[in-house]
Formats: sequence, C-alpha cells, structure tokens
Amino acid sequence: MKNLNQKVAVVTGAASGIGLALAQAFCGEGMKVVLADVERDPLASAAEALQRTGADIEAVPTDVTDPEQVEALANAARKRFGAVHLVCNNAGVAPIGSILETRLEDWRWLLDVNVLGVVHGIAAFGPKMVEQGEGHIVNTASAGGLITVPGFGAYAATKHAVVALSETLYQEVHGTGVGVSVLCPGLVRTRIFESERNRPTDGGPLNYGQPQEQAQQSLTSLGAAPLEIARHVVDAVREDRLHILPSPEVIPVLEDRFRRILAGDNLQVVDLSPTPES
Ligand SMILES: NC(=O)c1ccc[n+]([C@@H]2O[C@H](COP(=O)([O-])OP(=O)(O)OC[C@H]3O[C@@H](n4cnc5c(N)ncnc54)[C@H](O)[C@@H]3O)[C@@H](O)[C@H]2O)c1
Repeated sequence: MKNLNQKVAVVTGAASGIGLALAQAFCGEGMKVVLADVERDPLASAAEALQRTGADIEAVPTDVTDPEQVEALANAARKRFGAVHLVCNNAGVAPIGSILETRLEDWRWLLDVNVLGVVHGIAAFGPKMVEQGEGHIVNTASAGGLITVPGFGAYAATKHAVVALSETLYQEVHGTGVGVSVLCPGLVRTRIFESERNRPTDGGPLNYGQPQEQAQQSLTSLGAAPLEIARHVVDAVREDRLHILPSPEVIPVLEDRFRRILAGDNLQVVDLSPTPES
C-alpha cells in the first residue's frame, strides 16, 4: 500500500510501547487511526494525546483474547471511518521462565493473547480487506519467532506460531490486493516485561525471579526506541515486505541458527547465568 494518507489503520496493544509508536507513526503519515487496548485509562490518555496533535482518532477498549470484542472493534472502526486498510495485530505479553517452570495457566494466557489475539484480528479484518481488494495486515511476532534462548520458551513458541501463520496467510492472500507483514524485533524499550499487569488473576502471582530482572535490565540498556521500530513498519507496508527485521543484532544469530540446522549441528547453548561482579 504505497499511499497511506487518509487511509484507516487499526492497532491493538496501542496504549503502550510498540503499538503506541505505530499509532504515532501512522498519524504522522496522515492516516486515521483506531487504537485498541485492554487497558482503558492508558488507552484514553494515548488517544487524547494523539487527538491534541490534530489526528483523527477513535479508541475502542478491546481484549484481543475475546473474538466478539475484536469483531466489535472492526465494526466500530468501519462505522467511524467507513473501511479499514491496515490492521496491526500487535497486543502481546511476555512472562519469562524456563519451560519446566512455566505453569499451564501462563501457557494458556500467552496462547490466548499472542496467538489467538492475532487469529481474531485476522478473522475480523481479513475477509473484508480481500472483498475490498485493498489492505495490509501486520502481525507483531518477535525475534523470538525466529530464534530461541533459554527463559523465553513459551513466549518463543507463541511467536513462532505468529511467524508461521503470517507466512502462510501471505501466500494465501497473494494477488488479492492484501499484503501481510510479520514484525520480528529484538529488544525494544517498552513495558513488555511488566506484562503481568494484564494477566488474568486466577493463576496466582507471577514470579520467575532473576531471569525477569535480567531481561528488564537488558531491555533498558540495549532496547531500541519504539518509534524506530514503527518506522520500519511504515516502510514495510509501503514496500509490501513480508518479514520486518528491524534489529541488526538478530541477523547473525538467525544466520547461525539456520546454518546449524542445515548442517545437522546442535544449537549453541546460550548461557544466561549472571556474570560475576568484577
Ligand atoms: N519490547 C520488546 O522487546 C519486544 C520485542 C519483540 C516483540 N515484541 C512484541 O511487541 C508487541 C507489543 O509489546 P510492547 O513491547 O510494546 O509491550 P507493552 O507492554 O509496552 O505493550 C503491550 C500492550 O498490549 C496490551 N495488551 C496486553 N494484553 C492485551 C489483551 N489481552 N488485549 C488487548 N491488549 C492487550 C497492553 O495493555 C499494552 O498496552 C507484543 O506482541 C510483544 O510480544 C516486543
């Protein structure tokens, strides 16, 4: 989709981090934007802040784990703006912990938000886009959708699923006027490692201890700015690019993974134990 001006975008997980940056970047391109998020107050604040810049904004509180709410989001967007041209299925959560530690209720939560949330978005927006012969679907996966490290197994499993379903959808809608992209960033400075703020309360407290603290530190010191990631998304939509790999540090790791797989070599074991203070 070359011309974004006056087109309509819907972004889930838009109250924070990458989703908010996507909304800001789309407004900067002259798009009308529908913001959706499960967190009502941050969503309202984000919408107000964008409206103050003169952008045409609608905010729709939405839990992406509920297909009816995502359908209602699509209807609200069409009612307000007539059509939707770009949807970013971006809402996601990332509890951290080893596969052996991860509890079944956290698996379910991860699968519901990270995988079924994307599936619901595709179902609510995809068919209409094919019907109108124009549209683009961006699904937020992660570098964790292409590579694996200890402590992120459940998260990576959901993000590999997002990569697989995006690649398949890309092939299935090819030639209909609808493009598909899958966003696979490395670390980005957001609130992703505070995901438990949105965790359903029935599973007890989330406490995976040190890996979570280490991940938060790495994110703060090494993470990219969300707006930088959003600019890559704008370019990819314009260029109709399937894989969006905005983080250069991920590329050699990805190359090494595929080289080892093709050579029949085992993966390198990443040591995430804390380095002793010198
Ligand atoms: N931050 C990173 O390092 C990083 C790297 C790769 C991929 N990602 C992915 O980027 C996406 C955005 O995350 P972020 O980093 O901006 O984190 P974030 O926590 O800052 O933002 C995520 C947003 O999703 C919302 N959300 C959570 N559950 C929801 C639900 N059930 N329904 C609707 N909204 C819900 C949250 O309220 C929040 O506003 C996620 O899919 C995440 O997995 C993040």
